[in-house]
Amino acid sequence: MKEFINKNCFITGAASGIGRSFALALANEGMKLFISDVNTEGLEQVKKEIEQKGIIVHSIKCDVSKLSDIENAAKAFYSKLGDVDLLINNAGIGRAVNLANMNLENWKKVVDVNLWSVIYSMKVFLPRMLERKSGHIVNVASGAGLFGSSEPPSYITTKFAVVGLSEALFSRLKPLGINVSVITPALIRTNVFHSGLKNMEYDPKMLKDIGKEKLDEIYGSAMTNLMNSAMSPDVAVRKYIRQIKKDQLYIFDSQQIKHIVALKGKNMKEYEEFLLNYQEMQANSMKEHFQQYGINIEDYW
Ligand SMILES: NC(=O)c1ccc[n+]([C@@H]2O[C@H](COP(=O)([O-])OP(=O)(O)OC[C@H]3O[C@@H](n4cnc5c(N)ncnc54)[C@H](O)[C@@H]3O)[C@@H](O)[C@H]2O)c1
Repeated sequence: MKEFINKNCFITGAASGIGRSFALALANEGMKLFISDVNTEGLEQVKKEIEQKGIIVHSIKCDVSKLSDIENAAKAFYSKLGDVDLLINNAGIGRAVNLANMNLENWKKVVDVNLWSVIYSMKVFLPRMLERKSGHIVNVASGAGLFGSSEPPSYITTKFAVVGLSEALFSRLKPLGINVSVITPALIRTNVFHSGLKNMEYDPKMLKDIGKEKLDEIYGSAMTNLMNSAMSPDVAVRKYIRQIKKDQLYIFDSQQIKHIVALKGKNMKEYEEFLLNYQEMQANSMKEHFQQYGINIEDYW
C-alpha cells in the first residue's frame, strides 16, 4: 500500500502500545481511522490525542475474541467510512504457562485473542476486499512466531499460527489484488508484558513460600528491567509503516530475528543449540534477578 492519504484503516488493540502508535502515526499520514479495543478508557484517550491534532477518528469497543464484536465493528466501519483499505490485526495478549500444571482456560484465552481474532477478522472483512480486488491486511505476530523463544508456549503457538496464516494468505490473495503483511516485533516498550503478569500462573509451592504480592513485585521489576532495553513503539511503528509501503510480506524491526531465521535454514544442529542456549540465558537472567531478593529460584524448577 503505497499511498495512505484519505485511505480507510481499521486497527484492533489501539488503546495501547503498538496499536496506539500506529493510530497516531497513520493519522499523521492522512488516513481515515477507525480504532478499536476492549479497553474503552484507553481507546477514548487515544481518540482524544488524535482529535487534538484536528483529525477526525472513529472508535468502537471490540473484543477481538468475539466474532459478533468484529461483525459489529465492521458494520459501523462501513457505515462511517466505507471500504477498508488497511486492516491492522494488532490486539494480542500473553499469559505465562506452568507446564507441570497447565491452566487450559489461560491457553484458550490466548488462542482466542491472538489467533481466532485474526481468523474472525478474515471472515468478516475479506469478502468485501475480494469483491473490490483491493486492500492490505497487516497481522501483528511476533519474533516469537518465528522461533521457539522464551515466551510462554501458548503465545509462541498462536504467533507461529498467525505467521503461517499470513504466508498462506499472501500467496493466495496477492494475485487477487490484496496485500498481506506480517509484523514480527522483537522487543517493544509496551504494556503487553506487565498485563501478562496479571494472570501469571505461579508454581503453587513458590506461591506458598514467597506469597503473591512479593512474586508480583519480583516479576514486575524483571519486566521493567526488560522494558528498559526495549524499542519505543513509535520508533518501531515508523519502521513498520516504511515496510508496509513496500508491500512486504515480512516486516521486521530487528536484525537479530532475521539472523535467527537464517540460522534455522542453514544448520539445524546449530539452531537446536541456539534454542537451548537462549532458554538457558533467559533462565539465568531470571535466576540472578531472584537472587537480588535473596531467593534461589532453582528450588522451584
Ligand atoms: N511489545 C512487544 O515486545 C511485542 C513483541 C512481539 C509481538 N507483540 C505483539 O504486538 C501486539 C500489540 O501488543 P503491544 O505490545 O502493543 O501490547 P499492549 O498490551 O500495549 O497493547 C495490546 C492492546 O490489545 C488490547 N487487547 C487485549 N485483549 C484484547 C481483546 N480481547 N480485544 C481487543 N483488544 C484487546 C489491549 O487492551 C491493549 O490495548 C500484540 O499482538 C503483541 O502480541 C508485541
